[in-house]
Amino acid sequence: MKVSIIGGGGLVGSCAGYALQLGRIVREIALIDVNQEMCQGQALDLLHGAALVADQKISAETTAGCANADVICITAGLRRKPDESRLDLINRNVALFRNILADLKKTGYRKDAIVFVVSNPVDVLTYLAMHELGLPANQVIGLGTVLDTVRLRSLISDRLQVPPTQVSAIIFGEHGDSMVPIWSAAQIGGLPLEKYPGVTASFISEIEKRTRGSGAEVIKKKGGAGFAVGVSIADVIHSIALDQRRIMPVSSLQNGVYGIRDVCLSVPTVVGRKGVLEQIEIELWPKEKTGLQNSAKVLRETVDKVLQ
Ligand code: LAC
Repeated sequence: MKVSIIGGGGLVGSCAGYALQLGRIVREIALIDVNQEMCQGQALDLLHGAALVADQKISAETTAGCANADVICITAGLRRKPDESRLDLINRNVALFRNILADLKKTGYRKDAIVFVVSNPVDVLTYLAMHELGLPANQVIGLGTVLDTVRLRSLISDRLQVPPTQVSAIIFGEHGDSMVPIWSAAQIGGLPLEKYPGVTASFISEIEKRTRGSGAEVIKKKGGAGFAVGVSIADVIHSIALDQRRIMPVSSLQNGVYGIRDVCLSVPTVVGRKGVLEQIEIELWPKEKTGLQNSAKVLRETVDKVLQ
């Protein structure tokens, strides 16, 4: 499997490349960036470590290289300022993103390529990519709330001092302010989180607030997310590469679950070699369902503004 990362010279793209290298699953990692010097430097740095890691092909290339990529991961884009919402980014990032899509169309891509959008606002740009590239909706995936979900799980584990991989929790909706943590389904070691020693209403609201603000907190402290978003991206790409069909909160075009249609956002989604295989609806607490529908409304309004 070949993965091309557009924006591979940047923090998010290079961390994704590194996570894919350490994952030792994909065969080829190609970095693409407008900043060619930086892109070549990142690819070279990864290549230098190859002999200790895995038999993969690592290179820097131009958008033309996407023509034979199995997964085209788009991480390029401007970053939020700490006090800016992801939706505010839309005006600044849409023009840039449209240029990337136009370049991709010019150089071509495989009919079965999966386009994996990470740039923000990710739900809106995922919709735009699907709309403009003319690929079947199942082949266009956004990172959605995968990163928020891993942050939530990791922060819960850190606070309760339990193993992070034993915390099971998921966030639905927008990768942004209206995200909806699904507390009704959260578990620790297979036990209901709500009943776990130390879990109180104030614990839940504190962790939820910290998770919602995590992107901004990291931007403020180190300029932006890198490591956590890198492993999140690799996790999704591995489910595609190995056709694992794992259930992940990626963003994809909605077609009726929870009554939501014609907008991209995160619900539990089965991810495999063909991209989105299925979206799953489970019963939620009424306030969770309302929160999700609010996410859909917020995102639909933005999509309407972008497409008009
Ligand atoms: C964040 C960016 C990647 O949440 O949206 O850190």
